[in-house]
Amino acid sequence: MTGGAHRWEKAAHAYATGEHKTGHELQLAVDFARPSGTERVLDIGTGAGHTALALAPKVARVVLTDPVDAMLATARRLFQDAGVRNAEFVAAAAERLPFPDASFDIVTTRLAAHHFDDVALAMREVARVLRPGGRFIFIDTLAPDDPPSATFQDEVESLRDPTHRRIYTQGEWIAWCEQAGFRVEKTEVVRKAHDFEPWLERGGEDALTMRRVRERFLTAPASAVRDLAIVVRDDVVLSFTDRKLVLAARR
Ligand SMILES: C[S@@+](CC[C@H](N)C(=O)[O-])C[C@H]1O[C@@H](n2cnc3c(N)ncnc32)[C@H](O)[C@@H]1O
Repeated sequence: MTGGAHRWEKAAHAYATGEHKTGHELQLAVDFARPSGTERVLDIGTGAGHTALALAPKVARVVLTDPVDAMLATARRLFQDAGVRNAEFVAAAAERLPFPDASFDIVTTRLAAHHFDDVALAMREVARVLRPGGRFIFIDTLAPDDPPSATFQDEVESLRDPTHRRIYTQGEWIAWCEQAGFRVEKTEVVRKAHDFEPWLERGGEDALTMRRVRERFLTAPASAVRDLAIVVRDDVVLSFTDRKLVLAARR
């Protein structure tokens, strides 16, 4: 992550209370992890800690990591409020995990990889810290298969939040996992609807940039209107819907 710490601090509250709290993909993360109760879990790019909190009562210990201290502070409060105590909070980027080899049974990362500066390096780090046979639960936005739609989505996401790096198609995300030595066992694709204005505000940009994002949606290519199910009424963008890949892989 480069140059984005300040904006992430502003975003911490939005992530604690906004749409990241919920979603079918969050339930699937727990289902795909199949915890038995004894596992040590690492959650990468934990944000406000929703994925880690969903898993914590079902495992022995969770370690929450994020490069932004304000995110970890928000996650810590979430755990305190929930009365969940089997957690540690460690500042770290995915590309440089401060843990020994094979020190976790399960690693999760939800809606964070599209911010990673180096996806290949992050995947190798996940493989290194997982024990052999350990499980990797990966969730992130899927780029539409249609290239102009994918380019449009990356463009508006980056404009709305410059810490956005890139989203990939299902085949490309799977290739990143396989190149790091993972065997993909299971995938599911979930559609996620976003109320437009709260999504735009979470990006934390100034009024001028927000206006440019609105205008860009109003002039989106037809393929993007179709692939992202962009809903406009009376020249006001109301919502769009994208897809999240939920993937379970073995080291
Ligand atoms: C949308 S939030 C994650 C939401 C969270 N995983 C959940 O389930 O609620 C994205 C997070 O990725 C983190 N992040 C950005 N760059 C990162 C990197 N290189 N390594 C790890 N995390 C990163 C941000 O600080 C932010 O907290």
